[in-house]
Amino acid sequence: MNERLTIKTPNSKNYDIAITTGFDALKDELTALGFKSRRALIISDSKVAPLYLETVKQKLNEIGITCEDHILNEGESSKTKANSDFILYKLADLKFKRSDLVIALGGGVVGDISGYVASQYHRGLPFIQIPTTLLAMSDSSIGGKNGVDHNDIKNVFGTFYFPSFVYMNTDVLNTLEERQFYNGFAEVMKNAIIKDEKFYVWLIDSMYEICDRDPATLAEMIYKSLTVKKIVVEKDPYEEGDRALLNFGHTLGHAIESCKMGTLLHGECVALGMVAASHISYKKEMISLEEYLEIRDMLVPFNLPITVEDIDIDEIIKRVGRDKKQDDAGLKFILLKKIGKAVIDRSVTEEEMRAALKEIEYTDDFE
Ligand SMILES: NC(=O)c1ccc[n+]([C@@H]2O[C@H](COP(=O)([O-])OP(=O)(O)OC[C@H]3O[C@@H](n4cnc5c(N)ncnc54)[C@H](O)[C@@H]3O)[C@@H](O)[C@H]2O)c1
Repeated sequence: MNERLTIKTPNSKNYDIAITTGFDALKDELTALGFKSRRALIISDSKVAPLYLETVKQKLNEIGITCEDHILNEGESSKTKANSDFILYKLADLKFKRSDLVIALGGGVVGDISGYVASQYHRGLPFIQIPTTLLAMSDSSIGGKNGVDHNDIKNVFGTFYFPSFVYMNTDVLNTLEERQFYNGFAEVMKNAIIKDEKFYVWLIDSMYEICDRDPATLAEMIYKSLTVKKIVVEKDPYEEGDRALLNFGHTLGHAIESCKMGTLLHGECVALGMVAASHISYKKEMISLEEYLEIRDMLVPFNLPITVEDIDIDEIIKRVGRDKKQDDAGLKFILLKKIGKAVIDRSVTEEEMRAALKEIEYTDDFE
């Protein structure tokens, strides 16, 4: 199944996303964009590179692209300013020109640091994304956000910088570890819950095919998830308004993630954050108890957590306060009016957050 989407950007440099199988079509795609016969720095990680780097290099060599590479240790701890600086100096030492390419081959970590590097060198090199995780395919590789972390503050250095092209080979999802697969699914579920009730119902109906990683179902799921994100980011490319809806589950999720650094994955924290935000929506009588329980319980078949052990609620609240989603007008929280309709809310109190965190805190008598 081949799918294609075009994302409009504010600078009119629209870019395409191709959802396909195999790496063969990469050559024709880049040739059509005029990117043959130049140099490319492929940024990848220690798990992805042994699996796919040589194949990608070979396809690029066939159209006269000479490849250099930079391999990061896998995992979030590589998303640092020190690593992005190192890669920038490497580009300078290799005398890369403004017309050369930066290519991200990996998950969201590789995508985020590569986009940041691409945006900085010579004030911006053409940037190609080849996402290899479900999270990166269904969410992080589009929309132009990038960044690197500092200590436990996520994405504290970053820019908005749009890729020139995104190439998705869904075959690579077969080598993704189970926990990573469901981690990515959390962002898919989030996109459905905030904007598209029909998509949400389709996800529940397709549960078995998704968990079996049926190729046609995954391609359709990624396409649907990207379509939600496309609508949101095209309307608000720089997160001045409704793009914040994509942060559903992220306000408390990010704070939990930074408190539990290393033990929970991003998508798992987003799942916990979505349960907490749905609980607040229910307590504010915006959704019914049944809707809240359905959202919570439908994460379980997709192996996502709905409770968490050993959390320091005071520390989480403190971290929410310093999160960038807090601006002069107060904390920007994303709540639900119903499944498929999220809204920005600025009235969430510390007490409501504490009650929601109590709700997701694991206890022996959890029902
Ligand atoms: N820019 C955005 O809009 C945006 C949105 C959401 C998340 N993010 C960021 O994305 C990052 C998380 O991304 P992620 O979940 O993809 O994590 P990741 O990049 O760390 O990848 C997860 C793991 O899977 C491995 N892997 C990747 N592809 C594989 C494959 N095909 N086969 C086998 N192993 C593979 C990686 O080596 C890594 O160990 C976070 O830093 C988060 O902040 C960014």
